[in-house]
Amino acid sequence: MFDFAPAADQPKAETYRDLTEAARALIADESDGVANMANIAALIWQYLPQLNWAGFYRMVDGALVLGPFIGKPACIRIPLGKGVCGTAAASGITQLVPDVHAFPGHIACDAASQSELVVPVYHQGRVIAVIDLDSPVLARFDGEDAAGIERLAQAIAAAI
Ligand code: SME
Repeated sequence: MFDFAPAADQPKAETYRDLTEAARALIADESDGVANMANIAALIWQYLPQLNWAGFYRMVDGALVLGPFIGKPACIRIPLGKGVCGTAAASGITQLVPDVHAFPGHIACDAASQSELVVPVYHQGRVIAVIDLDSPVLARFDGEDAAGIERLAQAIAAAI
């Protein structure tokens, strides 16, 4: 059993540092990308409060395909440029969405979602996946969350 857990009331930057270190430890000796994405989704869920969905979409043949996640069953394929995830993948730029209802073309997989953070995962100069976090709280994510998940994405890119 792995018993990773965030310390109570610690600053966000420390939570993201610990989350990334825990992810590095989990993937260190494992080359299977699905296993690694599954564990990283579980870690994100454990470390970050106020989420209703956390997981991966992978770039497969020019579209995003659902990967390991925690949350309700979600849409399986997302064309590039569609929704928050497709926008992040097509642009290669993190999407920080305080109110999903104000995002044109947002794809509602879980009606509870109010805000969303989608971070592209780059490997060898290409976007190979996105990390998608949804929250039932408006404006749940800020720049520190975006920077923290971007660092996590860098740390795991070669192992997913
Ligand atoms: N809301 C996303 C779709 C994926 S689900 O949130 C899990 C989007 O607009 O791309």
